[in-house]
Parts: sequence; C-alpha cells; structure tokens
Amino acid sequence: MFEDVYMKTKITEMLGIKYPILCGGLYGLSDANLVSSVCNAGGLAFISSSDLGDKELLREEIQKTKQLTSNPFGVNISLLAETKNNLSHDYIDVIIEEHIPVVETSGNNPAEYIKRLKAENIKVLHKVVTARHAIKAEEAGADAIILVGYSAGGHPGMEEVGLFVNLPETVRSVNIPVIAAGGICSGEGLACSLIMGAEGILMGTAFAATQESLFHDNIKNKILQSKSTDTVVVFKSVRNAFRCYKNNLTQKIIELEKNNASPQELFSYLKGFDAKKSYMEGDADNILVPMGQAAGLIDRIPTCRELIDNIISQYDSIVLNH
Ligand SMILES: Cc1cc2nc3c(=O)[nH]c(=O)nc-3n(C[C@H](O)[C@H](O)[C@H](O)COP(=O)(O)O)c2cc1C
Repeated sequence: MFEDVYMKTKITEMLGIKYPILCGGLYGLSDANLVSSVCNAGGLAFISSSDLGDKELLREEIQKTKQLTSNPFGVNISLLAETKNNLSHDYIDVIIEEHIPVVETSGNNPAEYIKRLKAENIKVLHKVVTARHAIKAEEAGADAIILVGYSAGGHPGMEEVGLFVNLPETVRSVNIPVIAAGGICSGEGLACSLIMGAEGILMGTAFAATQESLFHDNIKNKILQSKSTDTVVVFKSVRNAFRCYKNNLTQKIIELEKNNASPQELFSYLKGFDAKKSYMEGDADNILVPMGQAAGLIDRIPTCRELIDNIISQYDSIVLNH
C-alpha cells in the first residue's frame, strides 16, 4: 500500500510497472534471463538487440523472455550500432510483430524510427546526455527521455556534465517525463532523482553486477573491489566516449590516443570482439568492460529482485525519515 502511493509516477503509469526502476540495454548481457528477472521484480528491462546481429535471434530472445515473465519488457535499439549493421528497421519489424510495448533508443537521432514505432502505439524512451538532445527527441515524438549523467557506464557522452546539473536542466527543458541514469545504484539515487524532477531511474552497472548477469565472477569481483575512481573514459579522441573498467587495455588505448592514433588503429582493438563470450570468460584485465563510477558504491552481488527490493526499502526509509 505504502509503495503503491509512493511509487506511482508518470513512468510507472506509462509502462504499467510496479516500480520506476529500469535496467538499460546492456550489450552482451541483457538476455531473456536478466530482462525477465528485472521485470518479475517489478522493474522493466530492455533486451539488447545490437549484439544479436540477426532479427530472428531477436525474435528468439523475445519469445524466451515471454516464457519467463508475463510482465511488460522492452527492446534496446542502439543507433550507434546502426552505422555498423543497418539492422534497426529489421529489429523494428520483429518488435512490431511480437507486440513489444516499449523501445529504448540510444546513440543517435531516433526521428526516423520513432515514426514507425509511434504508428504502432509503441512507447519510445530515448537516451540522451544533454538537455539539447532531449529537446530534439521530444520534437521527434519520444514519449520519455532517459537522461544519462557523466558517471555512467558505457557511453556517457562527450560533454562531461554530471547528473546533478544535467537532470534538472533537462527536466526544465522538456514536457515529457525524464528518467535519470548514470551513477545510480541505491535508494538514495532514486530519492534524489525523484526530488530533482525525474519520474524514474535507469541503471546499468548495478544490474550488470547481479547474480543473473552473464559477467564472469572475475568481472563481478572487479566491480566489488572497485572504487569510483577505477573507471576511465576511452575513445574521446574519436568522439565516442566510452566509460569502462580501468585495466591494461584501457591504458594502452589512452596511450595511443595521446599519441594521436588513427580511428582505425584504435578500433582495431575491438575487431572481432565477441562481448558475450569475453564477458563469460572474464579476462577482466585485457578486455573492455563497460562500467560506471557507481561501481565504487557496489559491495555485494544480489539477485535482481534483491537489488530492486533493497532500493525500494532504502527509498522508503529515506522518505519516512525526512
Ligand atoms: C555492461 C554495460 C553494457 C551497456 N550496453 C549498452 C547498450 O548496448 N546500449 C545502450 O544504450 N546502453 C548501454 N549501456 C548503458 C546502460 O544502458 C545505462 O545507460 C548506463 O549503464 C547507466 O549508467 P550506470 O552504469 O551508472 O548505471 C551499457 C552499460 C553497461 C554497464
């Protein structure tokens, strides 16, 4: 009862979920098991499509997820990957055919895709790193904004603006609901985000550090041992900022970037990189492991349900005590 009152936001209403807690698309990790676990615990997660490379594999993952949960779930379409594999429209065919209610777009202007999705009444949550991009996404017809601050794992943007500034700036700039992301892993993060005008939170690193995540225990242990300063942003020289765990490979890449290495040379380190396989093998010191600064706050590997329940009870006690 208590949670029903406190947890009703524009995002829980829009998506028909219990808690305003989302798991962003996680390349190589957001499979049927992780996604259904988040949804069964009252949140919502997105199957990662860009690592699948084939629309029928997306259909398979969607059908597996439907076997594991009767709650709503979504699909992430990375428009950054679009430049590489041109598959977004194929994925959207499957999303429509499978009656997926919500899509998370990221990495580039979603306007072309929003038209098709909106025609089918599918909600579009677009991920941005600045208020400027949020305004554009709203103009293109997005239903909500996922605003990512610079602490985030994965692509935190080139602008280096932290969530405490970025979030209220974005909330003031658009009329559609804003979901806060980047550095959140606790009830404190949820409470602050809602107070600052967000209608929900989205997390990546915290869900990557759950029991259901495919990350090998070596990588999960690195997250447990990490301080907030143990991540680094690589590929800024090619305007593709990418925050990950600081290791031998990132040191090599940073060195190359200092020496003005060409994009070809830099990206050669990713050639043939099979994220899922590498994450499951767990050579954490020699692969790129997307990881946000929130790793510094993570001190256990819970199930998705425990993570969400803990966030809610922490949030409840914060709200009761203030
Ligand atoms: C392991 C990992 C993989 C990710 N893969 C993707 C992806 O494929 N597409 C995407 O839009 N965001 C991706 N992200 C970003 C997350 O969806 C989310 O925006 C971000 O992690 C939020 O910040 P946090 O890590 O501080 O929680 C990834 C993040 C991590 C940690």
